[in-house]
Parts: sequence; C-alpha cells; structure tokens
Amino acid sequence: MSLRVLHAVRGLFPSGVTIVTTTDRTGRPHGFTASSFTWLSLAPPLVAVSLARTAHCLPVFCATEGFVVNVLHTGHRDLALRFASKGEDKFRGGEFTCDDGDLPRLRDALAVLVCRALRRPDGGDHIQLVGEVVAHSTDTTRRPMVQYRNAFHELARVEHAPSHPRHPTDHDRDMLHGAAALTDRGVAAGEGEAQ
Ligand SMILES: Cc1cc2nc3c(=O)[nH]c(=O)nc-3n(C[C@H](O)[C@H](O)[C@H](O)COP(=O)(O)O)c2cc1C
Repeated sequence: MSLRVLHAVRGLFPSGVTIVTTTDRTGRPHGFTASSFTWLSLAPPLVAVSLARTAHCLPVFCATEGFVVNVLHTGHRDLALRFASKGEDKFRGGEFTCDDGDLPRLRDALAVLVCRALRRPDGGDHIQLVGEVVAHSTDTTRRPMVQYRNAFHELARVEHAPSHPRHPTDHDRDMLHGAAALTDRGVAAGEGEAQ
C-alpha cells in the first residue's frame, strides 16, 4: 500500500479540526493543527491526539504535564493553516490567552478541553497524546469546521432521528436532545441558515 493511497483513504473519514497547545519549560506556547483528536472514554473523560514523530513540537509535547484541545469553528480556516505550518510564530495573532502559568486557550473556540497528560503510547510514525479532561468550556453558537478529502467543509444538514432497532439508551437520548438543542439555536447549518 502506498502512502499516497493511504492518505486518500484516510481523507474519506470526515473529522473535526482542532489546535492542540501547550507551553514549554520557559512558558513559551507551542501548538499544531490536528484532526486526529478522539474521545477514548467519558468516565473517566479521556481523549487522545496523534502527533507525528516529525513534528517540531514533539519534544515539548513529550515533556509537558498538560495540553489543551481547542475545537475549531468554520471561521478558523486561516488559523488552522497557520498552525499546520512550520517555522513561524504561530501565536502572533493574539487569538489565544497565554496568561502566566496557564496553557494557551483559543478565545473563541467551539470547545476548549484542558487535559492532564497521562501517557504517550507509541503509534508507528505518530505518538498518541492521551490526556484526562480536567476543565472545559464551550460556545455552541458556532459551526464546527470539518475536514474531508483534504479540504475544509461545513455541516450542511443534521439528521435528528437515527432509527434504532432497539430501545434508545440514556446515551442515545442525550445525543438526540443535544442535537435538537443545538439546532434550535441555529447551530446546525441547515438550508434555513438560521443564526
Ligand atoms: C487539517 C489538518 C489536520 C492535521 N492533523 C494532524 C494530526 O492529527 N497530527 C499531526 O501530527 N499533524 C497533523 N497535521 C499537520 C500538523 O498540523 C503540521 O505538521 C504542524 O506543522 C506540526 O507542527 P510543527 O510546526 O511543530 O512541526 C494536520 C494538518 C492539517 C492542515
């Protein structure tokens, strides 16, 4: 299997886009754009992000005790590209709070997950940053940025009622109520473009 083909296959799985941030021992902020973010567990709240072994920021993320997952909305396209580039001051725009001793948080992120670094299992050409979510904030008035086939997209439609051949669980109900609440506030990018 060629890497080129695997890239294309990977791109068929849509995902959200995040910027993962931390600070080094001197307090300098570091970060990279990541679409590999995933939830591993809700109780306890565990998340993971894959970081390429070739990333400049790898040593910093291997040494840090904490990191922040900043979930991007559709207005963050340029920011996502800046944090996917190398060799420039990614924090120059002042979009992040970088208070003394605090990990950098994106001011207008869709969600901010502050994580305690737990472990970094080997993952081939990536390492996995596994963290426990210790604090979070959300802004559900914005639409998520979606990556699909190497491009950024917006959600176009939300299906409210996936059909279940069984009785819905509490988790199912939470999911459906959450989706309905978001749509009521105009977050879902339906044809009506309610905002
Ligand atoms: C949409 C998008 C998603 C990305 N997802 C990841 C990812 O999950 N893991 C990763 O290691 N790099 C990912 N990258 C690439 C890194 O953001 C990029 O290599 C970055 O420059 C690494 O930071 P560095 O300057 O420390 O090397 C992604 C890039 C883009 C544009």
